[in-house]
Amino acid sequence: MRDHPCQHPPGPLPGQVSRRAVLMTGAAGLAAANLASPRAGGAVPPAAPATGAGPASPPVPVRFTLNGKPVALDLDPRVTLLDALRDRLHLTGSKKGCDQGQCGACTVIVDGRRINSCLTLAVMNEGAEVTTIEGLGTPENLHPMQAAFVAHDGYQCGYCTPGQICSAVAMLQEIKDGIPSHATEDLESVAFSDTEVRERMSGNICRCAAYPNIVAAIRDVADGVPS
Ligand code: FES
Ligand code: FES
Repeated sequence: MRDHPCQHPPGPLPGQVSRRAVLMTGAAGLAAANLASPRAGGAVPPAAPATGAGPASPPVPVRFTLNGKPVALDLDPRVTLLDALRDRLHLTGSKKGCDQGQCGACTVIVDGRRINSCLTLAVMNEGAEVTTIEGLGTPENLHPMQAAFVAHDGYQCGYCTPGQICSAVAMLQEIKDGIPSHATEDLESVAFSDTEVRERMSGNICRCAAYPNIVAAIRDVADGVPS
């Protein structure tokens, strides 16, 4: 009759490796990997933009207008607009949520159109007019969209909010300009509706799910309701 497994004495059978040995080997490997990782402050390869591996490229000059003021930078051509804004110009209102065009937290307005700043290289925006959340309003003089988000509690943690607000401002202009969306039923008459807002803002994800309040805030601004 075979022994029940629980009747085996503790420890490995001949020719087997103990569970403790496996765990200790794994832990040592993980520790070595962590020491080499940038987060742990270990050795890192030469600085390169977040978008690519390999050594830095010779910097190139980039000039554009940011929130109404001219800026001039010398950048590795692989640096994204988001990284240039946050790391070089220290405007950290635009957030890095996913760094791959999925969340909208990095939304800024370039030449009147909203874009994901993580998906465009800074050098591609040479000569452009760039507006970030810092350029829309000030704490003392909020942009109407900012005031409406406050009035409607259009946020909880706030991480997505700068992108939501920049997106909403440019989105209302898209409707005014007659640009249709997938939700537009009459292409000759593009008009505001909650359905349009939900469709057009679908690229801006809110992990806190403040969506009803975000739509309410945008609706107020579209209707000219003061906050
Ligand atoms: S950080 Fe750009 S879309 Fe998520
Ligand atoms: S308010 Fe937290 S992610 Fe939108």
